[in-house]
Amino acid sequence: MGDAVSREQAAREIAELRQVIAEHEYRYYVLDDPVISDAEFDKLFRRLQQLEAQYPELITPDSPTQRVGGQVSSAFRAVPHTRAVLSLGNAFSESELRAFDRRAKELSRARELDYVVEPKIDGLSVILRYDNGRFTLALTRGDGLSGEDVTANVRTIGSVPLALRPVPQGVPEYLEVRGEVFLPKEDFRKLNEEREQQGLAVFANSRNAAAGSLRQLDPKVTASRPLRALFYELRELRGNVPMPGTETGCLELLKALGFPVPVYYYCESIGEVIDIISEWQEKRHTLPYDIDGMVVKVQDLALAQSLGATGHSPRSQIAFKFPAEQVETKINDIIVQVGRTGVLTPIAILQPVTVSGSVVSRASLHNEDLIREKDIRIGDTVILQKAGDIIPEVVAVVKDKRTGEEVEFSMPEACPSCGSPVVRPAGEVAHRCINISCPAQLKESLIHFCSRDAMDIRGLGPAIIESLLQAGLINDAGDLYNLTQEDIAKLPGMGQKSVSNLVRSIEASKSRPLHKLIYAFGIRHVGARTAAVLSRHFSSLDEIMDATEERLMQVEDVGPETAKAVVMFFRQDSVRKLIDKLRSAGVEAAIGRQANTEQTGPLSGKTLVLTGTLSSMTRHEAQEHIERLGGKVSSSVSRNTFALVVGSSPGSKLDRARALGVRVMTEQEFLDLIHGRSSVDGN
Ligand code: IVH
Repeated sequence: MGDAVSREQAAREIAELRQVIAEHEYRYYVLDDPVISDAEFDKLFRRLQQLEAQYPELITPDSPTQRVGGQVSSAFRAVPHTRAVLSLGNAFSESELRAFDRRAKELSRARELDYVVEPKIDGLSVILRYDNGRFTLALTRGDGLSGEDVTANVRTIGSVPLALRPVPQGVPEYLEVRGEVFLPKEDFRKLNEEREQQGLAVFANSRNAAAGSLRQLDPKVTASRPLRALFYELRELRGNVPMPGTETGCLELLKALGFPVPVYYYCESIGEVIDIISEWQEKRHTLPYDIDGMVVKVQDLALAQSLGATGHSPRSQIAFKFPAEQVETKINDIIVQVGRTGVLTPIAILQPVTVSGSVVSRASLHNEDLIREKDIRIGDTVILQKAGDIIPEVVAVVKDKRTGEEVEFSMPEACPSCGSPVVRPAGEVAHRCINISCPAQLKESLIHFCSRDAMDIRGLGPAIIESLLQAGLINDAGDLYNLTQEDIAKLPGMGQKSVSNLVRSIEASKSRPLHKLIYAFGIRHVGARTAAVLSRHFSSLDEIMDATEERLMQVEDVGPETAKAVVMFFRQDSVRKLIDKLRSAGVEAAIGRQANTEQTGPLSGKTLVLTGTLSSMTRHEAQEHIERLGGKVSSSVSRNTFALVVGSSPGSKLDRARALGVRVMTEQEFLDLIHGRSSVDGN
């Protein structure tokens, strides 16, 4: 699979790969029934990237590799909608639903009306256009008459089809569809957690997070947020594919064309609608994304059309809004936690209370500004709800219940863990402890290092880390690998079995892949996803450590702030020491030279060195070609160098290569190699 191929072969393979990839995306996002693993999918994707890199002229905008276009815009241009984008009227009770049904029956003179019920996804509305089956434009709702062009950002969303799947009549000449872009609950939680650690303002709910992510000027940022989309309204259809006569018909057609659609229920009467809604009110928390109600739609589209609209909402549809589950409780105290990046987070200690299905006894108050804004004091009675159904949030203070005994809170001037000064950097909402060796930061960063998405050291949780620190057995993550059975056995509550289990899991973690290690370092702005992208682009930790900001920014998803954070991180002495410790302890697979075994290609595992000036490309382009073929570029010639590529006016590297008997390649030979006209062994 890694062999260089001719243009003709490449064109054929590219077409095939695109189809296979689109099929797997469809199974994953639309049918929710993937048949291959993520790793297998990545492999197909990388092969396509590799072929397209060899023959860039074969790239088309609907290739799955083109989701991140990379262009940064300065504003979103306004584009008029083809017709008004309406919103929905609301119902808050059963009787309001019945009134809606009665009115629709009166106006249509129907005895009984049938409906479709769908969850009301709490995201933001987008309108997508497809010309001859190709995705061409995405707009926000805007004021309903014109919206903002968010095409580049919507393109990055994996569940948005770039090309429609043909139905028996072919693909529509023109199609316009409306749907909802949202951030799944779990991703929302992670995003906020990361932002809190970075001293950035948190999003109040998943809808704001989705909106903030979609309205990014740099599509790379949008691509780094795992947005999803579901489509529920077929607004326009022209060409050979006929417009269905019913709501369910539209949803089925959308699905067949490749759009993920929400679950929906066909109901023969308003009574059935009400039953479905009350069922869902109970189980709404079980969905992986937030819903704030259910939408009820008249099934027959001609009838719906005849009902018309009032103001901005159609008379044939209504949104039933779920009441937000809110409870009252008391704030017994506000404590301050120090995170692994030194951010101080105020936490409300609550009188334990059950809300949306679980007992809550703590709620993050995020930062001092938010506490001031809501005027939250220790001793206050407050209203609590779960934002995004999972994160407990203090909504407001019940001021009527104040006794006068309540105490105002202010951030401490000294770190509660180490006593060092606390500062609030300009432009941040967070307060930070300035001591980089603050024990609380160390503890939190160790907890992160051992966590599941990082080095996954089972059994090494917060309590044991705390004991190890207190016993003076560890000072950084590198020390974990020097712990002996005897050291661990000294800790309180450790039996023989737990000691050997722990030793075994520490040992097992030595062979975690590179991306887990990078994530485990807890570098600012480098979440699990960015870590994976970095490890895919560089073949070893050494290369990442040596990369410049410019080089890092060429990696998809990596913006200037992240690039800077990575460079600054590896510049620290303490980090270099930590890496030395990890290396000598044998955290091999991750750090060693063959780290990225996933890289495949004709130059896989081979190191090339460049010298002199190439006439047909810049040094950087040459490097990219080599990396795409699975190889890497080093700055000096050694016995392990596979070949030295020589341009005009070569330097002393050429002498060294000759002395060591390393293969010397002319520019022409190199071009033949990267364009597949010769193979690695020179034939
Ligand atoms: S139908 C004419 N169906 O809710 C309006 N809307 O409050 C057609 N929404 O702006 C909208 N899930 O952004 C419809 N299954 C669903 C929905 C849904 C979420 C949003 C949509 C709309 C808002 C109305």
